[in-house]
Amino acid sequence: MCGIVGYVGTQPVVDILLDGLQQLEYRGYDSSGIAISDNGEIKIYKAEGKLQNLKDTLKSHNDEIQNAQMGIGHIRWATHGAPTLINAHPHTCNCGRLALVHNGIIENFKELKAELEKEGCVFRSQTDTEVVAHLIASIYGKIKNLTEAVRLATLRLEGAYALCVMHKDYKDTLVVTKRNAPLIIGLGEGEHFVASDVPAIIKHTKRAVYLVDNQIATLTPKSIDIINSHGQNIEYKVEILPWEPVALSKMGYKHFMLKEIHEQPDVIRNILVGKLHTTSDPVVLNEVKLTRDTLKNLNRIQIIACGTSLHAAMIGKYIIETFCGISVDVEPSSEYIYRRTVTDEHTLVIGVSQSGETADTLTAIKQSKAKGSHILIITNRPDSAMAREADSLIPVSAGIEVSVAATKSYVAQVMSFYLLAIYMAEIKGSLDSTILKNLKNEMMIIPQKIEQILSHKEEIQRCAKEYANTKDFIYIARGINYPTALEGALKLKEISYINATGYPAGELKHGPIAMLDETMPVLSILMHGSVYEKLLSNSEEAKARNARLIALTNSNDKKLNDLFDYIIKVPEVHEYLSPIIAIIPLQLLAYYIAEFLGKDVDQPRNLAKSVTVE
Ligand code: G6P
Repeated sequence: MCGIVGYVGTQPVVDILLDGLQQLEYRGYDSSGIAISDNGEIKIYKAEGKLQNLKDTLKSHNDEIQNAQMGIGHIRWATHGAPTLINAHPHTCNCGRLALVHNGIIENFKELKAELEKEGCVFRSQTDTEVVAHLIASIYGKIKNLTEAVRLATLRLEGAYALCVMHKDYKDTLVVTKRNAPLIIGLGEGEHFVASDVPAIIKHTKRAVYLVDNQIATLTPKSIDIINSHGQNIEYKVEILPWEPVALSKMGYKHFMLKEIHEQPDVIRNILVGKLHTTSDPVVLNEVKLTRDTLKNLNRIQIIACGTSLHAAMIGKYIIETFCGISVDVEPSSEYIYRRTVTDEHTLVIGVSQSGETADTLTAIKQSKAKGSHILIITNRPDSAMAREADSLIPVSAGIEVSVAATKSYVAQVMSFYLLAIYMAEIKGSLDSTILKNLKNEMMIIPQKIEQILSHKEEIQRCAKEYANTKDFIYIARGINYPTALEGALKLKEISYINATGYPAGELKHGPIAMLDETMPVLSILMHGSVYEKLLSNSEEAKARNARLIALTNSNDKKLNDLFDYIIKVPEVHEYLSPIIAIIPLQLLAYYIAEFLGKDVDQPRNLAKSVTVE
């Protein structure tokens, strides 16, 4: 949801900014811009659309940008104001002596704007951000101290922000601050980096400071000074960043999404290390800080999440209720936060988020925390804002996921739920020991089964070609794979823009069946288990309405050949673990359809990977 970068040092700044923005493109890509300081002059360049357009614009300015050693950059996902050149960041004050970039939303921008207009500020854009530029400049005009002007301005701001500010009077100084939006400072030798996220700086340094909400940092090539909102100096902690630069390469795959789908077997192996040793040893989950007694007596869990993480949460509900007999509610965070929710110190609240930054989920967990609930966070970002709120933190360790459509982080979240559910079931003694053994055994071999699917991906590619030209797509499933149907449909929508919907198969006859005819593909997630026969009947109902039927199945049942137009075979697996196997072909199907249609797979239109606005 917008990405910001900054640099102050001795290297040519433009390449550093552009490369940083490229690594942040997953956060937004509808316009971009940079401001650089060159011999005391602030120069600003912007472009609409993808970052490549900014790079093209800059080519014709090579002579005037090559000497600059300080600058700020921004990649935008529009919230206030259309994605036009005028709304692109950086934004400036009236005289253009101050420039800044912003990620977040200023909620009281209208009031501030009215006030600043009275002072004579002239607004050029429709953004909330421009207000901040005028506000800081107005205060600076009176006190002539940039850090202090930023501090005083932030006291007036409501909402969320990460800000990176430069001023003509300061040839080698950046001032940065944040509240409810991510911002890190990278420490180099005689240089400092600023970014919304690790990928933008990891090539340059592994040492970083995570700025805390309401702190203000003043950066020069050789110094960092951090103050709090009262203006007092703060000691800061230098941390080592978690990734290697190689994680950001496509490693020969055409898209990050395809690479990330292929990483899933290793992601699962990685999660199991140290947690699942043998089929007879109990699952080790030291990350869960609830006492055994509390876990034994727990009778209510709420899981909150958005998007793909919400689907992982729905599988979590199914298995926790089945394995542990504990009642679990799952709710989209955006709904949870705007009603009176019943939660207290006897409720375990689980937040699920690949980014750990999603504003709705962050707000929801803060609300539950305030009511005394124990907060357990399942995230791919142990360095995120959500992780910092956690009482118990399960990092899913999927490695950086660049493609906007989540794949490996989803599988890692689902796998984490299996570990959690088994861990709790073992403490409660609520699951039969033979089933437990079987499950553990199957969990250990699931990576090989995914590898089998990946090695036959041409079959899915052929299916994708056959169905790529459809306008609509229906996915049906029952039981534990109902969330798989939702997730499969979401993947297809996200990257191909085909109108795909997941339904619990039993609901088909209560409305959706009206849409079925020979143009409508219906994909049935037909995995062996308790609802197999029921789903087969639902598929027959669809066939009777002439729908084009696809089966995703692990069954060798001969009658499927007559019923289905296309069959995607997957390896045999225990019903309880089938969502992990079933989602892989659905990710590939979405990928190949989008690729066949020539869509921008890794950066689908209108989406961003990290949604830091409510
Ligand atoms: C965005 C992404 C989705 C993601 C959702 C929740 O909308 O495009 O892929 O599922 O946010 O994100 P989270 O980081 O909380 O899992």
